[in-house]
Amino acid sequence: MVTINTFKENKGKKKMTMLTAYDYITAKNIDDAGIDSILVGDSLGMVMLGYPNTLAVTVDDMIHHGKAVVRGAKNAFVVVDMPFMSYQVSKEDAIRNAGRIMKETGCQAVKIEGAYIEEIKAIVKAGIPVVGHLGLTPQSVNSMGGYKVQAKQKESAIKLIEDCIALEEAGCFAITLECVPRRIAEYITKKLHISTIGIGASNECDCQVLVWQDMTGYSNSQPAKFVKKFANLYDEEIKAFTEYKNEVENMEYPAKEHTYLISDEVYDEVIKEVEGK
Ligand code: KIV
Repeated sequence: MVTINTFKENKGKKKMTMLTAYDYITAKNIDDAGIDSILVGDSLGMVMLGYPNTLAVTVDDMIHHGKAVVRGAKNAFVVVDMPFMSYQVSKEDAIRNAGRIMKETGCQAVKIEGAYIEEIKAIVKAGIPVVGHLGLTPQSVNSMGGYKVQAKQKESAIKLIEDCIALEEAGCFAITLECVPRRIAEYITKKLHISTIGIGASNECDCQVLVWQDMTGYSNSQPAKFVKKFANLYDEEIKAFTEYKNEVENMEYPAKEHTYLISDEVYDEVIKEVEGK
């Protein structure tokens, strides 16, 4: 079973993998494939619930989906995102919500966007492992003015490096780096003693994460530059749905092999009885 220690042991030695999941069957399939870790991302707001961004996602949403994922993950390390406004208000709020997520889902860690140093320290002190998340932080989409590559300029790159060091000191056991230039991700990965989890942050990171619907081509929307489609599930699914529709309309499906039978003798007796003959 993958634990927090696996991240420490593999740092600088073996690359690790993480994918998002939001339900039991996907978590089980990801786990069966031997992926090290599963993130129940608040991206569920977009890919599962159809919101335009992650801001409307609630702690209850995260718990509902987190529970299902934990039931499917036997070996993988499960991290659940803390949604927008579940940790920003106060340390007390942050501990209470992180505690609820951990207690009610059975996950192994929570993830927090931004340099919320005091809140992270408080959660770690309560015995809850925390993954940080810097660079592009989707919960701040409105302050960032869109989903853009971060740390491309001197000041923002220095700030990112300083924030990463502060997150490590605050007790994070890993940091997600989203949409960060390769050389900055490489510097941070070498500088830190904890794992970096890259998404659009190059192969220099200790671990990679992707949203499963993006990397399997499950959605036909244009993915970000950093996404590689390892399959084309959208086309597969549309093909299956269309064939199903055609076969039902042509009475090809259900065929004999999909149909339950009754003996003629019993059938005749039933009809006789119901028809009163
Ligand atoms: O919510 C999410 O899926 C994430 C990943 C993009 C890292 O935070």
